[in-house]
Amino acid sequence: MNDIRTPRLLLRRWQEDDLLPLAEIHADPTVMQWIGDGRPRSLEETAEDIEAWEEEWDEEGFGLFAVELLGSGELAGAVGLYVADSPPELAGRIAIGWRLGRVYWGQGYASEAAHAALEFALQDRGIDQVVAAPRPGDSASANVLDKLGMKAEGSAQDPVHGHDLRLYSIDLTEFEG
Ligand SMILES: CC(C)(COP(=O)(O)OP(=O)(O)OC[C@H]1O[C@@H](n2cnc3c(N)ncnc32)[C@H](O)[C@@H]1OP(=O)(O)O)[C@@H](O)C(=O)NCCC(=O)NCCS
Repeated sequence: MNDIRTPRLLLRRWQEDDLLPLAEIHADPTVMQWIGDGRPRSLEETAEDIEAWEEEWDEEGFGLFAVELLGSGELAGAVGLYVADSPPELAGRIAIGWRLGRVYWGQGYASEAAHAALEFALQDRGIDQVVAAPRPGDSASANVLDKLGMKAEGSAQDPVHGHDLRLYSIDLTEFEG
């Protein structure tokens, strides 16, 4: 995979020195409140996440990108693709997700990175459809999904944590590159 450049960001695979800045992002309860069980993740869990994302890149040819600010080289967070394992409605489908450190919110970085990740999925990799499953209270993600042109397609329940989920999808014909 070649790195992707947007006007302000570099999307690339993970490297060893991403561990500490990502662990700092994962230690913030406000960042993590809508992700998984809603708890912050430890340094060890963050290392496991990076390992799993890199495995997905090796096996599938896509994954979550490390998102770096062009210029300063700071790691802003993780945005990209993964194979969903739940809820059952999405199992095996390719989903998009995002998490940025709090200091990088409100600057359009998440939408810029997510748009580039969708373009990579739908245009470059020829993936038929990309889905997303935010929780109803996660209005920041709903805003990003709207800006990407992703369409609501119903709701579901997270079988592990019991949360309600909103389901979204987009295909190439709906994507504005
Ligand atoms: C979800 C998340 C990634 C969204 O980040 P975000 O910064 O709010 O999203 P955006 O990149 O779209 O930026 C939002 C705002 O930046 C502002 N902005 C400032 N400068 C901008 C610029 N140059 N270009 C575009 N927008 C800009 C805009 O006002 C925009 O808001 P608007 O769409 O209402 O106009 C972030 O809140 C996050 O990491 N949350 C925690 C993790 C999480 O919950 N993940 C999802 C779990 S499934």
